[in-house]
Amino acid sequence: MKERLQQLQEEALSSLQQAADLKALQDVRVQFLGKKGTLTEVMKGMRELSAEERPVIGSLVNTLKDKFETSFVARQAELQQQAIAAKMANEKIDVTLPGRCALKGSKHPVTLVTEEIVEIFSRLGFAVAEGPEIEQDFYNFEALNIPKDHPARDMQDTFYISEDLVLRTHTSPVQIRTMLKHQPPVRVIAPGTVYRRDSDLTHSPMFHQIEGFLVDKKVTFGDLKGVLIHFLREFFGEELEIRFRPSFFPFTEPSAEVDIACVICGGKGCRVCGGTGWLEILGSGMIDPAVFASVEYDAELYSGFAFGMGLERIAMLKYGVNDLRLFFENDLRFLRQF
Ligand code: PHE
Repeated sequence: MKERLQQLQEEALSSLQQAADLKALQDVRVQFLGKKGTLTEVMKGMRELSAEERPVIGSLVNTLKDKFETSFVARQAELQQQAIAAKMANEKIDVTLPGRCALKGSKHPVTLVTEEIVEIFSRLGFAVAEGPEIEQDFYNFEALNIPKDHPARDMQDTFYISEDLVLRTHTSPVQIRTMLKHQPPVRVIAPGTVYRRDSDLTHSPMFHQIEGFLVDKKVTFGDLKGVLIHFLREFFGEELEIRFRPSFFPFTEPSAEVDIACVICGGKGCRVCGGTGWLEILGSGMIDPAVFASVEYDAELYSGFAFGMGLERIAMLKYGVNDLRLFFENDLRFLRQF
């Protein structure tokens, strides 16, 4: 029996040494000490031993168990150490590698021109206002002196939500909303999204406008010209040539469209300006007394001017973009250039 124990000890200790990982180490322990383990089997034989032999063998078994336990703990520590080392090697960070840049977003060109225009008018004392994109007929049309049978109301142009609700076709309803809330003097700039049933190479059903208006005592057409010329030269450059052309809007009288010398050809005539040398850039005029009547402003006491322009068009001219669709496709190769 002694020999058998000696042999077992060698076997057990060498299995412990050979265990390649913590799981294998546990298996060795079970094989040796478990209910059906080899040492357990040997110990069953102790019943047959004589009374003198039994304590001798008993103490041998205890020594063996102690040795096994010590070796087990040592090997376990070793394997744990190895596991940690392997993990560290695996997860090692090479601090000398070049860093990966976080991609920086950039502002959309329409946002850029909006901000620049707002900034220029802010310096002239204009305050920013906004209105809803789903608008009542009253604000979008009626109060702006656009009667029920006016062509601008044609189903062709306007997205109707119900008989009384439309997607606003311009930012001019913000004029009405502001004037109903505030008494003159008012100076407001109002950027926003607008909608028209129009979609081709140069028209998108959703686009952006910026509206501006000023009402005070003794405001004249000269003020309108002065403010718009100042704005356009700040925005496009001091040398810019500008012309005012008579036009018509139901909510302004008199009305003028403003052209600037073509930014592409400088006025010589090219494809962009259709050979005329001029680019139409905004609509404007003196606010019609009929509009003042609908917001209960005294047209004898007050006068004012208003203007509106398309922001995609301005962005195209400012940045030399030749395709309107680029603004809506969200192609990062385009957007990253701004
Ligand atoms: N609302 C007009 C349009 O969408 C532009 C405009 C605004 C004209 C204010 C005159 C005064 O075309």
